[in-house]
Amino acid sequence: MKIADRTYIISGGASGLGLATARDLHSRGAYVSLLDLNADSGASIATSLGSRAKFFETDVSSTDSIAAAIKGTFEWVESTGKPIGGVVAGAGVGLPGLIVDKKNEPLSIESIDFVLNINLRGTLDLIRQAVPYMTTAAPEGPDGERGVIIMIASSAAFDGQMGQVSYAASKGAVAALTLPLARDLSKYGIRAVTIAPALFDSNMTKMMSKKVKQSLENAMEFPKRAGQPEEFARTVRDSIENGMLNGTVIRLDGAMRMPARL
Ligand SMILES: NC(=O)c1ccc[n+]([C@@H]2O[C@H](COP(=O)([O-])OP(=O)(O)OC[C@H]3O[C@@H](n4cnc5c(N)ncnc54)[C@H](O)[C@@H]3O)[C@@H](O)[C@H]2O)c1
Repeated sequence: MKIADRTYIISGGASGLGLATARDLHSRGAYVSLLDLNADSGASIATSLGSRAKFFETDVSSTDSIAAAIKGTFEWVESTGKPIGGVVAGAGVGLPGLIVDKKNEPLSIESIDFVLNINLRGTLDLIRQAVPYMTTAAPEGPDGERGVIIMIASSAAFDGQMGQVSYAASKGAVAALTLPLARDLSKYGIRAVTIAPALFDSNMTKMMSKKVKQSLENAMEFPKRAGQPEEFARTVRDSIENGMLNGTVIRLDGAMRMPARL
């Protein structure tokens, strides 16, 4: 799929990995529709990018909120004439908690729902609502591609640490749905790729204590540092441009295998 003159929907596009992706695709001529809960940064980023960017304040855990953003995006697509090229489902949260705490209290169902509703339900709901517009998009190139769906899992999908049952469950499910999604959409010329990053600099990881971040960096094999959002964005770019990437989960992790605890 080409990047220039196609429209990309990016959830979580106001920060971190989603923002780096938006900037990278935009700099290569894409139109970007940014969906994020954070209205202040979302709006100012869209303004700074200019006429090839739109921001929709969106909560991906709400079906109605996604519906409004999808409607707005496709009205925009109609007015620009730049067909959809893909969806990057980047909105995500972490909320650590042991399955049972020191007082023998189980993890609250509210905290489990919070993580699953954004990371898993929100990812699938965004894709579900965008797909009917993708199946009818103008085909591109010799393979007749209609678009690419890119999801973000995590190292926690494979080696989740203590306190990560909800997060690991959400990311493991995203990894697991990649192949059936690719299979469902192959007849339309739509691909599905999941990227599973280890530690990357972003607002999410800025909230970690220095000690936690340092021990995660120590667990990296090589290079021994956090990944940069731009390094994530280039893997998104290749997932869009390389037609052979489909139905797979790409570990982007400097060979890091997370230990049980930090
Ligand atoms: N940074 C890392 O080390 C790392 C590692 C593995 C996976 N990930 C995953 O990458 C994705 C992006 O994370 P990031 O590191 O860029 O974090 P980030 O906090 O910088 O960005 C996440 C964005 O998602 C938005 N968001 C949160 N809840 C939302 C909701 N309900 N609706 C819409 N938007 C919402 C936030 O406002 C924010 O702009 C997440 O899915 C995260 O789990 C990150």
